[in-house]
Parts: sequence; C-alpha cells; structure tokens
Amino acid sequence: MDKEKNWKNFKITLPHRKPPYSKRNWGNGLHSLCSYQGKMKPSLVHHLINVFSNKNQLVLDPFAGSGTTMFEASLQNRNSLGFDISKIAVAISHAKINNYNSKNILKILNEAQNYIDKSKISEKTLKDSKDVKFNKTLKEYYHPKTFKEILSLRDFFIKNFDIKSADWCLVFSCMLHILHGNRPYALSRRSHPLTPYAPTGEFQYKNVIDKLKRKIDLSLSHKTDLKITSGKCFIQDILKKWNIKSSSVDLILTSPPFAFSTKFYINNWIRYWFGGWGIENFDKESFNYLEKKQKKNFNVYDNIFKESARVLKKNSYMVLHLGLSDKLDMGKILLPIAEKYLKVSDLFNETVEHCEKHGIRDKGGTKEHQYLVLKS
Ligand SMILES: C[S@@+](CC[C@H](N)C(=O)[O-])C[C@H]1O[C@@H](n2cnc3c(N)ncnc32)[C@H](O)[C@@H]1O
Repeated sequence: MDKEKNWKNFKITLPHRKPPYSKRNWGNGLHSLCSYQGKMKPSLVHHLINVFSNKNQLVLDPFAGSGTTMFEASLQNRNSLGFDISKIAVAISHAKINNYNSKNILKILNEAQNYIDKSKISEKTLKDSKDVKFNKTLKEYYHPKTFKEILSLRDFFIKNFDIKSADWCLVFSCMLHILHGNRPYALSRRSHPLTPYAPTGEFQYKNVIDKLKRKIDLSLSHKTDLKITSGKCFIQDILKKWNIKSSSVDLILTSPPFAFSTKFYINNWIRYWFGGWGIENFDKESFNYLEKKQKKNFNVYDNIFKESARVLKKNSYMVLHLGLSDKLDMGKILLPIAEKYLKVSDLFNETVEHCEKHGIRDKGGTKEHQYLVLKS
C-alpha cells in the first residue's frame, strides 16, 4: 500500500492504542534491557515502521537512544542503522540489534569476577566517585561492600569494554540497568530505575556479579529463537557531518530529546559516571548534547535536516516523534527549519481529544504525541 494511504489510515485507527499494542509491556522483553530517558513506545515504533517502510529497506535513527527504532526495524526484516553521541546509548542499541556468543559472555563475567577479587580500585575511580554527586553522594546509594564491587567493575569496563562487540555491549547494558531501581534486581538502596532519586531504605549487601548474571540470563532468554536482521550503531555527534553514504537510507524514524525534558544531569548521572565520566565530563561534554544546546537555540537542527536530506533516497520519509507540551510546540518550531531541506508532508498532534473522537479511550501510556512527517 502506498505510504500516504498507510499514514492516513494510521491517523484514523491509531493501532498502537488498541490491544494488544496498548499493553504497557507490549513487545520483545529486550526493549527493557536498560531503562532509558525518552524511550519511545515499542508498539508505536512498530507501526510507524510498517507505515513508512518495506521489508529489506534501510531504517536510520540518528538519535538512537536505547535502540527502540533499530530493534523494531531488525525484528521486522529491515536493515537498521543508528548513531548517538552517548556511549551508553550506542552500547544498549548495539546489544539489542545483534546476536551473542554465550561462551564469550561467560568469559567476560569470569574476567569481571577475577578483576573484583584481585585488583585495586584506581585513584581516578575513587576521585570520580566522590566528585560526581547530583542527588546525594554515590556512597549513599549502596552498601559499602556492594559499592566496592561497583567501583572495581567501573575500572574493569573502562579498561576492557569493546563497544564493537555485542557480547560486551550486553554485559555493560545489563550492568547499567541494575545500578539503580526500586525492585530487588537493583544494586542500590530503594531508588528509581530511570532517574536516580535520593535513595531510601536499608543498606543491604548485593553481590554484583550474581545480580548481573541474573539480568544477563533474563536478557538472553528474550533472544532465544528470535530472528533478527543485524544492524549497526555507532558513536557520532549529530551536529557534525554524518558518516553515512548519500542517498542510501529509505526511512529516518527518530525522536529528538524533548525540549522540556528535566535536567539532563539528574536523569543520567549514575549511569554516565559508571560509563567513565568524571565531574569534568559533566561540566564540558554535556554541552555537546542537544538536551542542553536546544535550550539556547533551535537552529542547531539546521544541520540535522540538511544531513537527513543528504542521506535519504529520493521520495523517502523522515518522521520525527516529538513531545507535546503546553509550554512549547516543538513541531511548529522545527517545521520552518526542516522546510529548508525537505518537503513537509504533515504535522500531526495525537491528542487525548483526537483519540476520544475515534472512540479510543486509552487512559494509559503516553498522553500526547506529535509527529512531524517530512519527505525528500
Ligand atoms: C529522546 S532520546 C532518544 C530515545 C530513543 N528514541 C529511544 O527509544 O530510546 C534522544 C537521544 O539523543 C541523543 N543526543 C543528544 N545530543 C546528541 C548529539 N549531539 N548527537 C547525537 N545524539 C545526541 C541522546 O544521547 C539521547 O540518547
């Protein structure tokens, strides 16, 4: 069916709002590999991929995040490509869109245990763990023995982590996920899986490798017998020239950082710290993130649309999923910038009122979505 018609049909039926897609946990369990700020709903991505692309085509997400677009594309026989400025995002995405070697994973875990048993914690990790504190100190999140093991593993990953290996990416992503949360899997005292809110409750020793193994086993179980088209995700700043061939992409489906998102630091600090950031990285590198840049000026999107137009094949779509808020209409702001390089096909607000008009009374899930649909 032609894509215009598909899209019209999507707007009327809103299939992601109907069972089974409306279920909170719809989709492959690996989507929950690691909690991630601004993660798109897999069911929504699933349908948008269907609407705007065909099998074997190449789908790109230039704000890869936790790899939702790429993973859904891979699951639906599309080739997936993505990038993100964050090592954490690339690791999580890479782990979702590639197959593993379980022997290699076991080897990494054994080496990690050995490292905890034998190595001394580096001066750098000791310093960073005191300096980096945005919402209570790190020490306040963990039992002292658990904390020592975490510090040791931070060194282990800084020294050995190979972002090109899906096995390493899986182990690293699982470790990131269990760093904080409010359920028994978490290494921290009671906190929150997304934002490390100030911890409460008892200091309880949790064996890090045991918890990590459990999370890895669970993640591996989601990939058993799963057929995916392998994809590629790499580190790249979206504001620089993209390392992607011109006229090679069939669909860009992405969701940029929401303009009204809460403070970048507070959301990510423990995972960024574990990934190797010291206080100096928070001070300097965070300025390269759109979350911060767009607060000053939306013109940073000029290069994004220019590069999108370059890499897209002729007559192909770019679909941006944007957050809708009372404070700011991101679609309206981005539209005139996008228009310089691409044709504007639609700006659609899927509001609660819109759903009710079509008889959909889904109270759960995202309240309001906005879609900017562009064509090359
Ligand atoms: C809203 S999140 C994307 C979430 C993703 N759609 C998902 O489902 O997980 C936005 C992403 O933009 C990335 N980002 C911010 N600034 C960037 C830049 N300058 N270059 C590339 N990526 C950037 C962030 O690291 C973050 O992962």
